[in-house]
Amino acid sequence: MIKIFQLLGILFLALSVSGCADFSLFKETASSGKTAIAKEGMVVTAHPEASRVGYEILKDGGNSIDAMVGVHFALAVVYPSAGNLGGGGFLMYRENTGEISSLDFREMAPEDAHEDMYLNEEGNVIDGESLYGQKASGVPGSVDGMFTAHERYGSLPLERLIEPAIQLARKGFNITANQAKNYNNLRNRFLENNRNPGTVTLIKDEKWQEGDLLVQEDLARTLTRIKENGRAGFYEGETAELLVAEMKAGNGIITNEDLKNYRSVWREPVTGQYRGYTAYSMAPSSSGGIALIQLLKMSEHFPLQDFGSKTARTIHLMTEMERRVYADRAEHLGDSDFWDVPFTELLSDSYIAGRVNKISMDNATSSEDVRAMELENIAESEETTHYSIIDNEGNAVSLTTTINSAYGSKVFVEGAGFLLNNEMDDFSSKPGVPNVYGLLGGAANSIQPGKRMLSAMTPTILEKDGKLFMVVGTPGGSTIITSVYQTIVNVIDHNMTMSEAVSEKRFHHQWKPDQISIEEGAIDDAVIRELEEMGHRIKRRGSIGKVDAILVRPDGSYEGGADPRGDDWAIGL
Ligand code: DON
Repeated sequence: MIKIFQLLGILFLALSVSGCADFSLFKETASSGKTAIAKEGMVVTAHPEASRVGYEILKDGGNSIDAMVGVHFALAVVYPSAGNLGGGGFLMYRENTGEISSLDFREMAPEDAHEDMYLNEEGNVIDGESLYGQKASGVPGSVDGMFTAHERYGSLPLERLIEPAIQLARKGFNITANQAKNYNNLRNRFLENNRNPGTVTLIKDEKWQEGDLLVQEDLARTLTRIKENGRAGFYEGETAELLVAEMKAGNGIITNEDLKNYRSVWREPVTGQYRGYTAYSMAPSSSGGIALIQLLKMSEHFPLQDFGSKTARTIHLMTEMERRVYADRAEHLGDSDFWDVPFTELLSDSYIAGRVNKISMDNATSSEDVRAMELENIAESEETTHYSIIDNEGNAVSLTTTINSAYGSKVFVEGAGFLLNNEMDDFSSKPGVPNVYGLLGGAANSIQPGKRMLSAMTPTILEKDGKLFMVVGTPGGSTIITSVYQTIVNVIDHNMTMSEAVSEKRFHHQWKPDQISIEEGAIDDAVIRELEEMGHRIKRRGSIGKVDAILVRPDGSYEGGADPRGDDWAIGL
C-alpha cells in the first residue's frame, strides 16, 4: 500500500515540474506537509516547489549537498523575495562521520566602497540609500558558495542540479496566495527602482492572484549560462556584463573586477555545549554563532524547564540574556578577516557566569545600564530564507541565505532577470545609527572594501552523544538569533516536537530598543502584566522568524518542521 502511495507521489511530483503543482494533492501523496516524518531523508524549505526539487535529487541518489544546490537555484526562481542568485548566505554542514564544516558565502563590499558612502555632506545617513537601488548591493556570493560546496562534497553533476530551476523559470510555476499578495504590495517599489518595468516579471498590469503562472525567461537564460559555464557563467561573461551595466545605469559601484574576485571562505564553526547537547553554528561574518552559543551557555545557569515555557520568569530571564548578548554583538562583532573578534573571551565560562550574575530574578535591567564586554577584560587583543536537508546517509545541511530585505534592493538586473541584494545596509553606516532592523554597530562593522557586512544568520546543527540531533535556522533579520535560540530551548527544555517548537509563538529582545517584541498571542495577558511590573516594555508585532528544521527522533527517524507562518513545506523520503 505504501509503495502505491509513494509511486503516486512520484508521478504527481514529476507532473508538477511542468508548473502545475497542486499542493493539496501533493500533501496527500507524499510524506509531506507542515510536518513530515520519514526514515530516509528530509527536505524542509520555504516553498513547496523548492522542497520538491530537493526531494527528487535525494531520490535520484544525490546527497544533501546536491539537494542543497538544487534547492538553492530553485528558490532563486520560486521564492524571489529571498531565494537568490544576487545575494549570499551561510552553510553549516555535518557529514555522517561527524565532521562539521561551514562556508561563508556572504556578500562583500565592492572595492570602491568606503566608510562614508551613505553619508551626506553634513555627515548624516542618507535615508534609504543603503536599502534601495543599485548602490545598496554588495558583491553577490551565492553562486560561488554553491560551486565551492559542491566541488568539495557534491556527487551528482551540476547540470542535473541546476536544470530543475531552469525548467521552473522557463515553464513557470503557480504562485501561492502569499506571493500574490507580496507582488501586489511591492508593485510601486519595483516600478520606482527599475528602469524598464516591462522586463520585470513581478510587475504586471492586473493584480496577481493565487495560482497565476510566473514565467521568468531572462532568469532561465542566466541559469543556463551558469549551468553551461559554471562559476564564470555568473561572475564573468554576459551575466557579469549585464550586472555591471545595471550598476552603471544607477549609482551602483560593483565592477567586473569585484565580480571576478569574489570568493567564499570555509570557516571554523563556533561550538558550545548545552545541557549535554553540542551546538555548531556560524562564525563571523555572521554574529549568529557567537550570540547563540552565548545565549545557550547563559541559559544553562537557569532551570528553564522547571520555570515553564511561557511564564514571566522564563521570558524575563531569556530577555535579560538577549539584552546582554546583543550589546556585545554591537560592539565586538564584525568580519573577522578585518576585525579582531574576541571569540574566546566572549564565550569563556567566567565571562558568561559574570554576565549571568548581574541578572536580577525580579527586575528588568535598563538597556542603558548594559554595556558590551569591556576591552580591558580581553586577554588579547525582513527577508531571508533557511532550509534544512538530511540525506539517506545522514549528511546534514543547514543553510540560511538572503538578499537582505524582501526582494533586496528591488533592482532586477535588466536582461538577467534576478534581484540584487541590499546587504550594504547590514554594515554600520554610521556609529550609533541603527540599520533597518534597529541593530547598532561601530568600528567592528564599518564599511571597508572587500569586507563582509555583519549578519545575524544562524544556520545551526546540534548533536547528542556524538550523533546528529537537530538541523535548524530561520530568516528574520535581528530576530534570527533569538528565534533559533527559542526553538532549541523549546525542544530541549520544554520537550516539544519539531513542529510544535517551530510553530510556537515567539518573542525577542535585542538590547536596543529596550523592548520585548512579541508575536500577537505569544504571551498571556496576565504574564504580560507581570513582565511590565518587572519593568519590561512590551511591543506587539507581526510574525517573528520562519523556522524550517529537522529533528532526529529517538527511533532514528526524522521529523521535519515547516513553519506555519509561510508557505514552508517539509518532504520526507
Ligand atoms: O544577514 C542578516 O542578518 C540580514 N541581512 C538578514 C535579513 C533577514 O533575515 C530578513 N528577513 N526576514
